[in-house]
Amino acid sequence: MQYKIKCIGLLTSGGDAPGMNAAIRAVTRTAIFNNIRVKAIYRGYKGLIADEIVDFQTQHVSNIIQQGGTILKTARSQEFKTIEGRQKAYENMQKHGIDALVVIGGDGTFTGARIFAQEFNIPIIGLPGTIDNDLCGTDSTIGYDTALNTIIEAVDKIRDTASSHERLFFIEVMGRDAGFLALNSALASGAEAAIVPELETKEDQLKSLIQNGFRKSKNSSIVIVAESEITGGANGLAERMRIEHPEYDVRVTILGHIQRGGSPTAYDRIIASRMGVAAIDALMDEQRNIMIGIVNNEIVHVPFTKAIKDDKPLDQSLLGVLHVLSI
Ligand code: F6P
Repeated sequence: MQYKIKCIGLLTSGGDAPGMNAAIRAVTRTAIFNNIRVKAIYRGYKGLIADEIVDFQTQHVSNIIQQGGTILKTARSQEFKTIEGRQKAYENMQKHGIDALVVIGGDGTFTGARIFAQEFNIPIIGLPGTIDNDLCGTDSTIGYDTALNTIIEAVDKIRDTASSHERLFFIEVMGRDAGFLALNSALASGAEAAIVPELETKEDQLKSLIQNGFRKSKNSSIVIVAESEITGGANGLAERMRIEHPEYDVRVTILGHIQRGGSPTAYDRIIASRMGVAAIDALMDEQRNIMIGIVNNEIVHVPFTKAIKDDKPLDQSLLGVLHVLSI
């Protein structure tokens, strides 16, 4: 090996996701196991610019695998989007002797990482940490499974009151521009339908739903709606429904940030641990500027450019499954 990594910087950035702590633990312990020093960077790129950097030992990551959130804190840094900000970040890396970075986050995190790596010739490895599951090249992102389970737990509870009052509920879930949380939580909670961003410009999903015999044989209904500026999310659809179909007794629940919290599921802990180990393995193997993913249960290396491409396909045949199962 020509260039040996002696010290890594580790940060979490963007929206937090359950399982980030399990990933922090795995990266830290694998690095130390391989005689690589770890510098923890607090508050993502913002902290890298502001020099919020401390030495991490293996005990710093004890007792965190089960905790939601991120012990490193997180932020969305505007300054890192500027060359001046990135210059400061680079100088702090040099000051602390950091010769590679492991960044845990979503597409914003990797977009920043890709530019930073190119400008300053820094090896960077990314771990996919976002509840949205919107990164290409991995079957699941860290936090997605926990968020799904949080959603279905909430929907199960809402179903009790929906059915007692014979109401139609629009339940809004997160996902930014992706419908993975909406579609799969709808399947797992036995909802009537999912309204997803991927179809927004193609059809009027609410209209199709009603035309397809929506709620004919039921005394209550649950529709999972992905957050969206185009449809107006659950509130927007409910508003339409009240005007176009006043016969329905409509209610709205916006699940919001409850979806980002909580103890990670076993699945998220396992993928976070495997990906964390793989990140250090990749650095020692002189890989750079890639995201670690898991596809068909195998670790894969995905170039940042591919990971952040805006085209992770939602399996739209599952909308058909949902339709069949909702009769
Ligand atoms: O990317 C994760 C996510 O939770 C999205 O689903 C959501 O649109 C966004 O972050 C919310 O961000 P914030 O917590 O900054 O309001």
